[in-house]
Amino acid sequence: MLNTRISRRAALLGGGAIAAWLSSPARALLQAAGKVPTPALVTDLIGRMTIEEKAGQLQLMASAWGGGAALALNPPQGNSDFPRQVDEARKGQLTGVFNGNGATMARILQTAAVRESRLKIPLIFAADIIHGHRTIFPVPLAEVASFEPELARRTAEAAAYEAAGAGIDWTFSPMVDVARDQRWGRGVEGGGEDVLLGRLFAAARVRGFQGSDLKSTEHMLACIKHFAAYGAAESGLDYNVADMSEARLREVYLQPYKAGFDAGALSAMASFNEINGVPSTGNHWLMTDLLRGEWGFQGFVVSDYTGDEEMILGGFAKDGRDAARLAFLAGVDMSMQSGLYRQHLPDLVRSGAVPQAQVDESVRRVLTLKAMLGLFDDPFRRIDVKRETARSLLPKTRALAREAGRKAIVLLKNDGDLLPLPRSGKTIALIGPFAAGQHDLVGPWVVYGDDAKAIDLATGVRGALADKHSVIVAQGSDVEAPIAGGIAQAVAAAKQADVVILAIGEGAGMSGEAQSRTEIVIPEPQQLLAEAVAAVGKPVIVILKHGRALALEGAVANAQAILATWFLGTETGNAIADVLFGAYSPSGRLPASFPRASGQEPYYYAHKPTGRPNPPGDLQPYKAHFRGIPNSALYPFGHGLTYGKINYSGFSQSGPSLATNGTIEVVATVTNRGRRAAEEVVQLYTHQRTASVTRPVRELKAFRKVALAPGQSEVVRFTLRSADLSFYGRDGRLRTEPGTFDVWIAPSAETDGVHGTFDLTA
Ligand code: NOJ
Repeated sequence: MLNTRISRRAALLGGGAIAAWLSSPARALLQAAGKVPTPALVTDLIGRMTIEEKAGQLQLMASAWGGGAALALNPPQGNSDFPRQVDEARKGQLTGVFNGNGATMARILQTAAVRESRLKIPLIFAADIIHGHRTIFPVPLAEVASFEPELARRTAEAAAYEAAGAGIDWTFSPMVDVARDQRWGRGVEGGGEDVLLGRLFAAARVRGFQGSDLKSTEHMLACIKHFAAYGAAESGLDYNVADMSEARLREVYLQPYKAGFDAGALSAMASFNEINGVPSTGNHWLMTDLLRGEWGFQGFVVSDYTGDEEMILGGFAKDGRDAARLAFLAGVDMSMQSGLYRQHLPDLVRSGAVPQAQVDESVRRVLTLKAMLGLFDDPFRRIDVKRETARSLLPKTRALAREAGRKAIVLLKNDGDLLPLPRSGKTIALIGPFAAGQHDLVGPWVVYGDDAKAIDLATGVRGALADKHSVIVAQGSDVEAPIAGGIAQAVAAAKQADVVILAIGEGAGMSGEAQSRTEIVIPEPQQLLAEAVAAVGKPVIVILKHGRALALEGAVANAQAILATWFLGTETGNAIADVLFGAYSPSGRLPASFPRASGQEPYYYAHKPTGRPNPPGDLQPYKAHFRGIPNSALYPFGHGLTYGKINYSGFSQSGPSLATNGTIEVVATVTNRGRRAAEEVVQLYTHQRTASVTRPVRELKAFRKVALAPGQSEVVRFTLRSADLSFYGRDGRLRTEPGTFDVWIAPSAETDGVHGTFDLTA
């Protein structure tokens, strides 16, 4: 009934034209060329809207339903209640809400907007679908450890399928902030420390969320965040300033955002931080000159949660009105949660401080996206209570979560081939706060997922064993506090066992927003537990739970085997058991370097050289290192063992040089000399020895995952183009410079593998 009404109204407003436009190949072509046309319906509406209604279309609020999941995940603000929010929808004071409570809530609000408001403009429903909706996939950083962007596309698509089924049109994802300081807690949401991986995963996730048609009820609008350089927070302190050269900004931090936009993302979120003294939310150069002018972005920009208002305490805006003016004029189309746009934009326009035409332009962008999402055709297209349940936690989605989980696990160490474990004949002591129980499984930044639906480690391990009685579980310690008698109980369990699995690390709340750490170590009570258990003398396998790279110490670092397992989501226990018992041969690689000590942070493999590097071997005086430790990683970026034995040999290259605009091929042979099948992630790195701006000691240029049966060899070929060797000069422009390059085909960023040199000639 309602749908018919909407269609009739849409027809009056040129709905026939819009339907044709939405499905026309011309639109697809225009989009591909980066031009999003404005539907006639939108132009018509803008002509009829009051300035208050326009400001309303630029104001997004957290859902107030029952307290709202959003308010639980963000600082409490704007204590709106739900009836008031419905009234705001009715009055056209709201463009949409985020982190609401499913289809039932969405239906009530949408009904108020499209039946009772003057212009009947549909609301948009947003949410933080960061790594799944009900089925929770590994945290984004963990998924990057797969070195398989296509996997991230598939999980984003599966998350969109569930979330769109629950009425959500727009996800605040992917977060693509390059994170090179592990003290920062939000690296867990992103693509790790590397530029190439950051770009590939950003693009893959956008494709997964958005699909090929935004109208699809199985897809949703993606949002590239946090624009820009949020991950460069000084000292890893969340919300802190970023200060850097334009060359570094362009070459490192901006790259994944650009890749996400190039993949078709049509919304962006401004970051909380300032860059070189100007908050992103008030940064005209960033939001307008670069994003729209240089990059041709056609979508809309939303502030982060009260980001506009925060420019007051940030020392950039005088008051709320000034903050709204600065943010809006900078190019932030939509305000999240502060309420400042709907409060101040009408008067800012009346007083001439903000041009009416610019408000119209922002409204045009927002309404055009609503049209592209199909909301004018049918505002209830994604709102369906039955579908919400029918799509939730399907076996095929859980199977994908298990696949993603096992591909995200990184085998850091495996002395004496302790892993994989046999499925019978051994008594296992499963010790630690993450050994059993449905807590800390789904990880940080989950709005709709549920630990109670997830498989814990003990269940996964028991499920894989032939003899279910061969597991003794002992908690030993809480995450950050000792428990009475815990260590004694754990030691007793270890004494009865043949092998110990020690499940320790960070709780879900220790990474994510506002969770910066000064020491990125195993919390002390757990470290003491590890020391006591190790002293029993049984072989120990450490299973790490973590949202960042950690600095491992003592008995944890010295364990015979270590698996980095992050937060793997709904299928945690099954995915880990698959690797522990050899149903899956580990293939994950570190997307962030594990340092030797917290004090090395920010530590990243693609650092610049100094004039005094410490040569391999002993520490030497007056060379670049900290007292007592080499400035290298304990486990570098790209590191990860397999259950095979992989050998690199036979380096060759197609010639001694490549010309500008030319290519060079580099080749290596990888062989599995082990007795088990393996998947090796073969990595290509380069380093330009001398340039007008110094170059990182290594940069990842390409990688390939190669499946190798026991005894099998594979010749791996990479083609480098001269464009792959470009960098940003002091003038902020991309350039290539002739010179000599080192090249490695290697299993990680700090191993030699096989290598050579070539010249780039003019
Ligand atoms: C603040 C976070 O920085 C952002 O990532 C998130 O999308 C919003 N809150 C909304 O929850």
